[in-house]
Amino acid sequence: MKVLITGGTGVNGAATSRLLVSEGMRPVLMDNRMDLSLIGDIKDKVDLLEGDVTDFQALEKMVADYRITHIAHLAALMPEPAEENPRLAMRVGVDGTLNILEVARAHKISRIVFTSSKAVYGEMVGDFGEPRFLPVTEDHPKRPADLYGVIKVCCEELGQYYWETYGVEFVALRFSTIYGPGKEARHGALSFYGQLIEKTQAGEPWVIPQGGDQRNDAVYVGDVARSIFLALKAENLNRWVFNVGTGRGSTPREFLAVLKSLFPNEPLYDVDRGVRDYVNTIMRLRA
Ligand SMILES: NC(=O)c1ccc[n+]([C@@H]2O[C@H](COP(=O)([O-])OP(=O)(O)OC[C@H]3O[C@@H](n4cnc5c(N)ncnc54)[C@H](O)[C@@H]3O)[C@@H](O)[C@H]2O)c1
Repeated sequence: MKVLITGGTGVNGAATSRLLVSEGMRPVLMDNRMDLSLIGDIKDKVDLLEGDVTDFQALEKMVADYRITHIAHLAALMPEPAEENPRLAMRVGVDGTLNILEVARAHKISRIVFTSSKAVYGEMVGDFGEPRFLPVTEDHPKRPADLYGVIKVCCEELGQYYWETYGVEFVALRFSTIYGPGKEARHGALSFYGQLIEKTQAGEPWVIPQGGDQRNDAVYVGDVARSIFLALKAENLNRWVFNVGTGRGSTPREFLAVLKSLFPNEPLYDVDRGVRDYVNTIMRLRA
């Protein structure tokens, strides 16, 4: 198996590359931004190619030069940049995915694994939201609530069409919220769990202003990498889409409890302490 990972130097790409390297492979990482900060430890054990998924000719050359057999297609714009630049988001997401499917068809690629998202489902309402949070299965209606989710739905449909029509194997993994190294630097506000961990590790106080008891399925990027690896190599696939998460909701308060056990001496604020400190500070300032 020779794997091309698009968006290979990003958060999920780096974790996936590290896992493939530990499995004895030498993946080819392509990205339009050569930021090696997340892959410094493995950069000599992978092939790095600067390139853009919107450039079909460049993709074809990479696939031919490196005799690629499988593609993990991760390159995408995150929700905020997608809303800010819808045309670019569509070009990278939809045109980029079409290029991957076309190159796979032309070069007889064995399988594409596409990183989709829970965003295809949109808002979780009724029994699937607060307070019951019933598990969501893959046949749940797709009602994306943002452009990012709309693009993921388009890509999934394209992939399914290519599998049915041209036999290009296409697996979509719909991830729940992911946390892992590099999220904070790259995704800012989206990296809620990353901020909790990294700020605590750096000894910075951190307040959750609200929602300490809100359940969410937060999955670690190492497990995400494993799911991509398993989807690449699974034999006799009889399904094309999988929800990927931990399968249970955890609250920020539970997350904080783990952090407190790991960093007992750091100035970690939870919701209660945060609010108390807030009020005390105001009173001190007014005195
Ligand atoms: N992080 C999450 O919580 C989450 C959840 C669900 C799904 N996903 C999906 O997982 C995939 C990877 O996400 P991530 O968290 O690693 O994001 P990331 O931003 O860290 O990585 C994406 C990478 O794609 C690259 N890229 C963007 N446009 C490109 C282009 N035109 N050509 C080539 N490369 C390009 C970026 O430079 C970046 O390195 C994405 O498809 C994302 O939608 C992420």
